[in-house]
Amino acid sequence: MLSDQRHLFAVPSDVAYFNSAYFGPRLRSVTDAGRAAIDLTGAPWTVQASVFFDPVEQLRSTVGALFGDDSEGIALVSSVSYGIAVAAANLTIGKGRTVVILAEQFPSNVYAWRAKIEREGGDIVTVPRSTNGWTEAILDAIDSNTAVVSIPHCHWTDGTLVDLERVGVAARGVGAALVVDASQSFAAVPLDVKSVQPDFVVSVGYKWQLGYYGLGYLWVAEQHRGGVPLEEGWATRKNADDFTALVDYVDQYEPGARRFDVGERSNFVGVAMSNAATRQIAEWGVANVAETLGSTTSDIVRRVAELGWFAVPDDQRSGHLIGIRHPNGLPDGFADRLASAGVSLSVRGDSVRIAPYLHTTDDDIERLIQVLR
Ligand SMILES: Cc1ncc(COP(=O)(O)O)c(C=O)c1O
Repeated sequence: MLSDQRHLFAVPSDVAYFNSAYFGPRLRSVTDAGRAAIDLTGAPWTVQASVFFDPVEQLRSTVGALFGDDSEGIALVSSVSYGIAVAAANLTIGKGRTVVILAEQFPSNVYAWRAKIEREGGDIVTVPRSTNGWTEAILDAIDSNTAVVSIPHCHWTDGTLVDLERVGVAARGVGAALVVDASQSFAAVPLDVKSVQPDFVVSVGYKWQLGYYGLGYLWVAEQHRGGVPLEEGWATRKNADDFTALVDYVDQYEPGARRFDVGERSNFVGVAMSNAATRQIAEWGVANVAETLGSTTSDIVRRVAELGWFAVPDDQRSGHLIGIRHPNGLPDGFADRLASAGVSLSVRGDSVRIAPYLHTTDDDIERLIQVLR
């Protein structure tokens, strides 16, 4: 369990921020790194060629380790929709075959599949919510027609968890690819690509990952690293760091998943901020972050239960993110009451989404309980 880390975050004491699933709270070290990078790029005469590459490789390496792997599988992308587009461009569906997704899944992991099916044939199978949780329902939906299972690690509206290892086994059993949008869990819930063996995993970098908006991470399994990128940038080519030879065009890419990097991924400010963020998370350790947040959410679930609110059963939810519902629904003026008490959270459908982080204090929880009461 990690101790209170509030001092590291730029969250004022009169704000009870339970909205990490929207935007992660800002680490002071991340702001400092961003400001230093703005200053650096404001003096371009000091920017060496190495600044285009070294920080990017540092980020690849830290992020790879957070996935339980090395840097070779990591591409830096602009968004989840970009990462899913890479996966869709490198997988085959075709007539009579299906893509399995979850009900009310985040749209960036839906539209690319709909568009591909429109062009090339196939169908979407949408797994409905079930009182037994997602995993059994997904396993039921996978059959010999399944070409791709493209799902989150936990549902973005309420944190309900998917057992990715079991889904991975079932997908491989029918020759289907597994694609994961881990935006609402990566860096807050352990995800080991060696155990899950997915084909592609993508995540934003600005929620539980605490980094820059506009810089996400795509992990690509070894068998897809020779695939087709969405764009043909110069920085992903062999010897790109020799700026004097850029017009000696080369067909080879840099090794690993680097070919899938989005153009201008050297994004100096973004990479600096995301490096600071992921370094701090690596220092804490994802398992320790998960355990600490799990204790915070358990405390909240117990206290709101006394007021008639309920969450999904403990064995179906992830530790960091919860959605709570009330049998009577939400009262009028709920958003105003939250705002006037300085409590920030999101409502998604009928679920009040509570997403604490390591800055969360007992006082924040007390304020939340007061509003819910
Ligand atoms: C589960 C999930 N995936 C993806 C995103 C963001 O997608 P994109 O990077 O395509 O904007 C969000 C944002 O809330 C999300 O909750």
